Amino acid sequence: MRETLGLTGPKKGCDLGQCGACTVLVDGRRITSCLTFALMHGGREVTTIEGLGGDPEGDLHPVQQAFVDHDAFQCGFCTPGQIMSAVALLAEGHAGDDDEIREWMSGNLCRCAAYPNIVAAITAAAGR
Ligand code: FES
Ligand code: FES
Repeated sequence: MRETLGLTGPKKGCDLGQCGACTVLVDGRRITSCLTFALMHGGREVTTIEGLGGDPEGDLHPVQQAFVDHDAFQCGFCTPGQIMSAVALLAEGHAGDDDEIREWMSGNLCRCAAYPNIVAAITAAAGR
């Protein structure tokens, strides 16, 4: 995705399935793309952060906007993966409270420790 398609939103962090920086959606389900061969998903819809908001010149996706509104990032390296995972979490119905959000976002690490703001952003997005 990054080198052939130029989609540099998904990040290569650990390359071991442990950090979540590479998270994308396949048919709406989150996966760690670093552990996934493209040929395993032929014919399926793969969504990266680039495709989340639809029109690149249009409005941000509500989860993207919530991350901006709540300062839910510092360096931003983990952010595309956090947002993709948060979108799936909301679709899965796992935003009941802070503890549930933390549990279901536990596969996405943030070395800047923006966790409180990430939880606040997801909570806000869940209410929209
Ligand atoms: S780069 Fe894929 S989980 Fe870390
Ligand atoms: S914002 Fe820097 S790693 Fe998460």
